[in-house]
Order: sequence, then C-alpha cells, then structure tokens
Amino acid sequence: MNIHIFKNKKSLDEAVSRLLIEQVNKHPKSVLGLATGSTPLGIYKQLMDDHKRHKTSYQDVVTINLDEYVGLDKNSPASYQSFMKVNLFDALDINPKNTFIPDGETKDLDAACQAYDDIMKKHPIDIQLLGIGSNGHIGFNEPNTPFDSETHIIELALKTRTDNAVHFKSLDDVPTQAITMGIKSITNSKRILLVATGANKAQAVKGMIFGEIDPILPASVLQTHPNVDVFLDYQAASLILSSK
Ligand code: PGA
Repeated sequence: MNIHIFKNKKSLDEAVSRLLIEQVNKHPKSVLGLATGSTPLGIYKQLMDDHKRHKTSYQDVVTINLDEYVGLDKNSPASYQSFMKVNLFDALDINPKNTFIPDGETKDLDAACQAYDDIMKKHPIDIQLLGIGSNGHIGFNEPNTPFDSETHIIELALKTRTDNAVHFKSLDDVPTQAITMGIKSITNSKRILLVATGANKAQAVKGMIFGEIDPILPASVLQTHPNVDVFLDYQAASLILSSK
C-alpha cells in the first residue's frame, strides 16, 4: 500500500482527480469504479471543472458504481442514482448507457446481483475509487462480509445507517439494506485509490493499514492487493502518525 498524506482536503482532491484524469486521457475507454458519499464530492468537482476547462472526454468511459440502497426510489435525492447524476454525470459528456449502478428497486434482487457481476466480467475495472466507512466497510461490505463475496444484498450496520442519516429526514428513513459489489469484485480491480478524510475515519484507517487481515475490518483486505494507493488528510491519518 502506498500511503499519501495531505495537509488539506483540497490538495488531496487535486491529487486523486489528477490520477483519474490522466487515466482517462491515456485510455479513453477506461473502466472507472466509482463511489458515493461525502468523500468523493471534491474529487468529482475537480473532474467536472477539468472537463469544462480542458475538455477531457468521457464519451467512451464506462463507470461502475459500488452500491445502491435497496427499496429506495431511484429518483429520490438520497439514491446513489441521483447522487451520481447531480454530482458528476450530468456535467460530463459521458454516455448514460455506459454508467452502471446496481438496481436496488427491482423485485428480483438475485437477478440484479447476477447482472451486476456480469457487467464487471464484461468491463473489468481499471481504477476503483473507494471511501471507507467509520466501521471499516468498503462499498457497503459491512464487517464480517466474506472476502470472496461478489455482488450481494447486505443488511446495513446501525453505524452505517447513523453515519448516512444526514442524507435523509431521519434515521428511520435510511434503508436497512443495500445491494453492493462484493469484496472480491472490489479487489479484482487493477488499481485501487482509497480516500479517507476526517477524524472519524482514523481508527478504521489504522486497522486497514496495520491491523490483522480479517473480515471484521473489511478494508484490511486491501493489504493483500498489489496496487493500492491510500489518500489521507491529517485527521484521518492521525492514529497512524502517532503510532509511528
Ligand atoms: P462517506 O462514506 O464518504 O460519506 O464518509 C464513505 C463510505 O461509507 O464508504
């Protein structure tokens, strides 16, 4: 794992977006694995600004998102479909047909999981952008998800629902289940960029880097991947800096 520590979020966002832009310029048919949540917002803003200023084209890029809530209307502002449209896709020249997000609304969730695995087999991910939950989850793979999991339905941990309640009217409105790429699906990516900011991620970050490789902390699996870059601000890095 290569660890990069930044003094502020802006310089971190610039560094990560530069890598993504370089990838797309060098390989216009890249497959990007994308994340939602607060963490990638600044990175997506940089991508949108760059597209406007330098015309980096996403016409042939394929994107595959990590996860989606189960049972939430796609058009709800809290859905990850809406998140991606508003915070990235609508401002790029990307073909909506090339943007994939798991279907959490369908009645046949098993078929939706299988369909998502098929999409990733057809479009292996070149670079996967990842956040980390305060409980160490990646995607919505909560603690104790098997490392060999593919796309599946997961019961969201109370910690995750509480962390994400800010995007809903109340905790009761946060869905209890999600459809998520599995841990194997994530580690199949050729390269992984994990981003963590803020003090509430410091414990999970320390476990991911120095802890045992154990499903109790899903992000610890990244120690086994040959091509992972971790981008941290000082707050998220605070416990690894103090343990040196
Ligand atoms: P956040 O979520 O970016 O909203 O902190 C990260 C995650 O849960 O993976």
